[in-house]
Amino acid sequence: MSAEPQKTFYLETFGCQMNVHDSEKVIGTLISQGYRQVSTVEDAGLILYNTCSIRDKAEQKVFHRLADYKKLHAQGKKFGVLGCVAQQEGEKIFERAPYVSMVCGSASYRNLPQMLIQVEAGKQRVTGLDDRETDECFETEFTARTNPHRGYITIIEGCDKFCAYCVVPFTRGKERSRTSDSVLAEARQMANLGYSEIQLLGQNVNSYKDSSGKRSFAELLAAVSETPGIKRVRFTTSHPRDFGRDIVQAIESAPTLCNHVHLPVQSGSTRILDAMQRLYNRDQYLERISWMKAAKREISITTDVIVGFPGETEADFDETLSLLDEVGYDSIFAFKYSPRPNTPAVHLADPISDQEKSRRLAVLQDKQKQIQTHLNHRHLGQTLEVMVEGKNETRKQWIGRTSQNKVLNFTTNSDPAVGSYVQVKATIIFPNSLAGEMVV
Ligand code: SAH
Ligand code: SF4
Ligand code: F3S
Repeated sequence: MSAEPQKTFYLETFGCQMNVHDSEKVIGTLISQGYRQVSTVEDAGLILYNTCSIRDKAEQKVFHRLADYKKLHAQGKKFGVLGCVAQQEGEKIFERAPYVSMVCGSASYRNLPQMLIQVEAGKQRVTGLDDRETDECFETEFTARTNPHRGYITIIEGCDKFCAYCVVPFTRGKERSRTSDSVLAEARQMANLGYSEIQLLGQNVNSYKDSSGKRSFAELLAAVSETPGIKRVRFTTSHPRDFGRDIVQAIESAPTLCNHVHLPVQSGSTRILDAMQRLYNRDQYLERISWMKAAKREISITTDVIVGFPGETEADFDETLSLLDEVGYDSIFAFKYSPRPNTPAVHLADPISDQEKSRRLAVLQDKQKQIQTHLNHRHLGQTLEVMVEGKNETRKQWIGRTSQNKVLNFTTNSDPAVGSYVQVKATIIFPNSLAGEMVV
């Protein structure tokens, strides 16, 4: 009697680090249910997309994929849509793509095993959708992390901030934190498996509230950084409103806490910040920056910016440009405003043309490139510790990453192991990276 063919799945992930890490947990869950992951849609029985809807372009990607692969349905393959588009569009996805048999938002992943059984049994419209009610986090023992040296731990899920432009509070449910003990247990487990870098994740890590009441976010950072075997701890994303001085103090006192803070500002204009409902003004944001600039360790600061929010005048935009000069970011992620379903800003008149948004984006990026090139020069001649991430064979260069999250490529005659830490002297400066030689 021949063995039953093994169930196979293909999973493609879009979006942020939270989605990437959710996919690692989903993959682990599927494997625990007897599935095998394959790398092409052709080889898969079940095709899954873990989707992002932060901007319209991101959302459209999944519908293009579904349209491209529609023909595979005729071969008996099944489709599932997970993540933020799944939660946002819900059952409407079945109308748009009737061959999809499962739609599941991130707050329902703990129900995936039962949902998969229904899909396998041939049920047509299996759903796992959240109504912003759940208090549970998706904790699983089956996480299939892809990188053996550096790994994510989600500490807080959802978001209660409701910034006027943002879908996340609707797609990821209400804010809920894990207990600090459970986070620390996962950190120890990862250290035992050989991980040396941990990145703590949440849409707004600063509003972390230990449900056991034991530790503040800064205390959790300190505790994770003391995990034996862990050499680097990162955290993202910080929200300026909840960013306290104690976080800067934690970074000052723990060398394992990376000296890098990603603090999205979105706009340099208080008027626009107000319209965005960001809950801080330009001065309050700059106060947080001054705490970091006064720190004993040099902290690298990066940010996110949205250009062309409804009502953004040339004068507002100029304030964003001047903020870049004032702060001196090591890098920025900049986006054109994209109107999103369910969000309050979608009802605002949006008279700024796409062409004008593109112009502002280009001006902003151009300015930032000059700032970055200038700022990176401070590293010239410095010897910095990097984690070895791999090798670029064509360029005969090793790829390294500094504590400040900068790429520092280097040459050496030795053969450093991926995941090891080595000292590199920076000798060449580019806008987006550094290059140098390993110091022996
Ligand atoms: N929680 C983080 C942001 C997560 S989304 C925070 O509060 O900062 C990542 C980035 O996408 C945001 O910082 C913002 O710059 C951008 N973004 C979110 N919604 C957007 C929209 N509707 N249009 C354009 N950019 C958007
Ligand atoms: Fe979106 Fe604002 Fe929440 Fe960040 S804090 S995820 S921008 S609503
Ligand atoms: Fe996208 Fe959802 Fe992350 S909308 S950015 S995948 S939280």
